[in-house]
Amino acid sequence: TMKDVLGKYFLIGTAVSTANIDSKDPRVKQAIVDNFNAIVAENCMKGEAIHPEENRYYWDEADRIVKFAEDNHMTITGHCLIWHSQPPKWMFTDKEGSPVSREVLIDRMYHHITDVVKRYKGKVKGWDVINEAFEDDGSYRKTPYYNIIGPEYFELAFRFAHAADPDAELYYNDYSMAKPAKREAVCKLVRDLKAKGCRIDAVGMQSHNGTNYPDLADYEKTIDALSACGVKVMMTELDLNMLPNPKRFGGAEVSQHFQYDKSFNPYVKGLTRQAQKMFNERYLAFFKIYKKHAEQISRVTLWGLSDGDSWLNGWPIPGRTNYSLLIDRQYKLKPIVKDIIKLFEQ
Ligand code: G3I
Repeated sequence: TMKDVLGKYFLIGTAVSTANIDSKDPRVKQAIVDNFNAIVAENCMKGEAIHPEENRYYWDEADRIVKFAEDNHMTITGHCLIWHSQPPKWMFTDKEGSPVSREVLIDRMYHHITDVVKRYKGKVKGWDVINEAFEDDGSYRKTPYYNIIGPEYFELAFRFAHAADPDAELYYNDYSMAKPAKREAVCKLVRDLKAKGCRIDAVGMQSHNGTNYPDLADYEKTIDALSACGVKVMMTELDLNMLPNPKRFGGAEVSQHFQYDKSFNPYVKGLTRQAQKMFNERYLAFFKIYKKHAEQISRVTLWGLSDGDSWLNGWPIPGRTNYSLLIDRQYKLKPIVKDIIKLFEQ
């Protein structure tokens, strides 16, 4: 299986939901434990979910996923401490709804990171400390953390996480990492954090890939550039979007308008032969890169267990039928997995 063969090179993981681990369908658990040696919670450790109000945490789902990992001898990654999307929104405003001061936000960030990391001390191998904090052009994303605290929030978050569990690995995680400007910005972040004496073990290249992006040479360049900065590289959210994105219509609001337009969903009844070929070639091309760079890579994690679980059925248009992962809707491995395993046996 992938875990036996690829596992000799790096951790091989999957994102799971509580619906997955609670499933009464035995194929679901089997698919997780047979193929993977690492898991990450797809949603329930995010700020909004785990820390819905000041001084109130909702641990139940995260606890169960951590226990599932322990019971099945799998590594678990914590995703994610600081992110502009799905954040604990109460953090940014006071009781009157006015923005909090820099001091208050730093204090709240400290308590959030400390409480969450301490709870899973010795259980979670490493944390995505900050997620998606740069724009594709390399500029800082203007998140409430950035706007209220300023760029110092990076260093603070890494320091708080390290203090809470000195043995935990710490990561920065982002998408579109093959884009040169973003690659540069993240490399600079790694160098700056290291220069300040902060711990950072790895950078996650999310790898939400498509059939024509990223450019493979640029993608490899990012692996080399990050590893030259002295960190491991992880593919943290690997999947393959087989459906065309309605880019020409722009943002989410307009996409909603087209949500029932089936012209954006050409594979409702399954991939065509040509699309199937594209799927296989593309996955194999990425895994060839992972084998070539295996010494620089510490983990490859697929974002979702099966095609039916993938967030890409709902993004950017809800209700589509996507085929993004290596396990199909019946929880069966797709044929290309054999070739991927063969590749790593050579
Ligand atoms: O659980 C509620 C449910 O009770 C409610 O009825 C339903 C109505 O919308 O929402 C459900 O929550 C959804 C949740 O996924 C669980 O399915 C949220 O609306 C939805 O926004 C959320 O989407 C997740 C998204 O991050 C935002 O947090 C996706 O599942 C998850 O795959 C996606 O993952 C992100 C990574 O964390 C970071 N990188 C990008 C990646 C893909 O967007």
